[in-house]
Formats: sequence, structure tokens, C-alpha cells
Amino acid sequence: MNFNAGPATLPLPALERARDELLDFASTGMSVMEHSHRGKEYEAVHDEALSLLRELLGVPTTHDILFLQGGASLQFATIPMSFLPPGGSADYVVTGAWGAKAYSEAGKWAAIAGARANLAATTKDGGYTRIVRPEEAKLDPAAAYVHWTSNETIHGVQYRDVVRFGARPQVCDVSSDFLWRKIAVAPFSMIYGGAQKNIGPSGVTVVIASKDFIGAGRKDLPSILQYREHAEARSLLNTPPTFGIYLMRNVLAWLEGLGGLDAIESRNRTKADVLYAAIAAHAGFYRCPVAEDSRSVMNVVFRLPTEDLEKRFVDEAKKQDMVGLKGHRSVGGIRVSLYNAVEPAWVDALTQFMKDFAKRAG
Ligand SMILES: Cc1ncc(COP(=O)(O)O)c(C=O)c1O
Repeated sequence: MNFNAGPATLPLPALERARDELLDFASTGMSVMEHSHRGKEYEAVHDEALSLLRELLGVPTTHDILFLQGGASLQFATIPMSFLPPGGSADYVVTGAWGAKAYSEAGKWAAIAGARANLAATTKDGGYTRIVRPEEAKLDPAAAYVHWTSNETIHGVQYRDVVRFGARPQVCDVSSDFLWRKIAVAPFSMIYGGAQKNIGPSGVTVVIASKDFIGAGRKDLPSILQYREHAEARSLLNTPPTFGIYLMRNVLAWLEGLGGLDAIESRNRTKADVLYAAIAAHAGFYRCPVAEDSRSVMNVVFRLPTEDLEKRFVDEAKKQDMVGLKGHRSVGGIRVSLYNAVEPAWVDALTQFMKDFAKRAG
């Protein structure tokens, strides 16, 4: 029972398919990894992954889907490089460690470019335990874009409803928020995230962006850093991470077979409800620091009365085959990631363990 935050558990059928096809992909006598990315066998996989993602998320034709490399972290750099012009500014709304990183990276580029990254709002003083309401943000009406993070993976803070910060283009890091529920893509100029949470293995970064927005991006950057060039080349500008995209295709096909996002969303919400209820049922022992309206469905964080007990909790859970429960090293505590491939039965096992542990140690 793997509760890792990313790389994270993958659906067993997607892995089994990869195992079965590993040595002989599409009756070619070799693995998909050994095919040219310009060959028709790989291209069929590439196109299927693109079309499955478009269909599952309902991505409108106004938006391109890109498969890139470098993780969400490279996006922290290429977003300001592409869209923050000299003399301009971009707004950053920060509700956790990843948003803080995005803001800090933007600041570095802004210093080079003679532009400004503006901290429109932050919940740092409260320890990143809640979302920011749009009316709290000090937005620049002329900002090139507004960047925010829809789910903070480390702090367990999530916008339960998709919001909008002002009228300027919305750019959102959805790394740990991708593809577990339906969201309207059209209002965003760009959403992006690493695949290694809900979509596939690490090594693939998915960017979904408005054609107009990326079309207006800076044109004098090296080609590999330009979204427009990747879009024109259908993410085949250079050698893509072919095996990662193949595995992503398997995950997307699995999700479609399950009934798509409507089916997985209700399953995910139930898992989170069960877990938060278990925390509340032992409120003197387990404590979730996140404000109720900001609690993440994907990454549930909580504390025990002492760090020693937290260590014991993680060690004893591991003996019962539950792994990935240790909170991020920067914040400690417990973190349970509930991505699509986490089975409801695992959450039942975990909540039973939590009940027993609280009784023994509380
Ligand atoms: C919300 C969020 N943004 C950005 C990142 C950084 O992603 P990467 O390691 O793919 O660069 C992570 C990684 O966990 C994340 O959870």
C-alpha cells in the first residue's frame, strides 16, 4: 500500500500492460523504448496519449497539450522567461512551499530581465495552512500573468473549488492536482505539472496552454525553451521521454476504462472523507493543521502529539505494508497521498491502523 507523494503508486493494470509488452511491443520484436520517436509505432502511442488526455480533461481546441521534460521545476523558470517581459511584472500567490519556489525562481529571471515578480499574497506567516481568497490578493492590473498553485503537495493545502485571481492570464501549477477531478481548462492560460503523481512516471511534464498565450511568448529564447516551438512540433521537437509517455498512455487508458474523471473523482473524494473522518474521530491524538475549507483531497497531512510518536506511527505502519507516510522533510508529521491509483481498501486499512495506534499509544 503505497501512499507516496510522487513518484507515486501507479495503477496495476497499467504496469501489467507494460510488463506484457516490454519485450515485444506491437508485434515488433522489441520494446517501445528501442523504437525511434519518429517511427509510426511510437507516434501512435504519442498521439493516443495526447488524445486520451484531451478527451479525459475536456481540453478545448483553443489549448495545446505539451509533453516536456525538466519537471514542474523547469516550468518555474520557463514561464517567466517566456511571458514576463522586460519592465513588466507577474503576480504570484503563494500558499505553500511549491508556490514559494515558483515565486523565487521568477524573481531570479526578473532580476536578469529587468522585470518584477510580485508577491500578491502569501500565507507563510500562518505556516501555509490555508488557501488565499481572490479578494485578499494584491494584484497588479497590468501583470503579465498570475501564478498560483492549486494543490500544495507538502502542506496539504488545496483550492477545493477552482478560483480566479483577477482578469489577467491565469497560470497554475497543478502537479498534484492533475486528473483526479474535472476542471474547466478554458479559463486558464496555462496549467502544468509533473506526471509523477496521477498521470504516469517521473520524467514527463504535462503543460496545457492556450495557443494565443504561448503564441505571444518571447521569441528570442533558445528553441528548447519555447512553448510555441514544442507545440508546433507536437512535442517532438527533440527526443521526448518515450517510455514515460508510453506508460502515461497506459495510465490514461486505464482511467478511461474506469469511467473517466467523474468515476475517479467520487472515489477520490470518498477516500479523503474517510481519512479526514478518522483524524476527527481521534481529535485529541491526530491533528490536521490545515483549515477545513483548504484541506487537500490528494495530500492529507496530520500531526501526532510528539515527533517520537510520528516516527513510531510510520515504522509500525510499514510493518503492516503501508509505505510513503512520512511527511516532507521540511515540515515533518504524516502525509498520506491519495492519488487515483490508491485503492479505497488501502485507506480502510490505514484508518483501521490509525484507530488501533491511537488506542495503544494515546
Ligand atoms: C505542486 C508541485 N509543484 C512542483 C513540484 C516540483 O516538481 P518536479 O520535481 O517535477 O520539478 C512538485 C513536486 O512534488 C509539486 O508537488
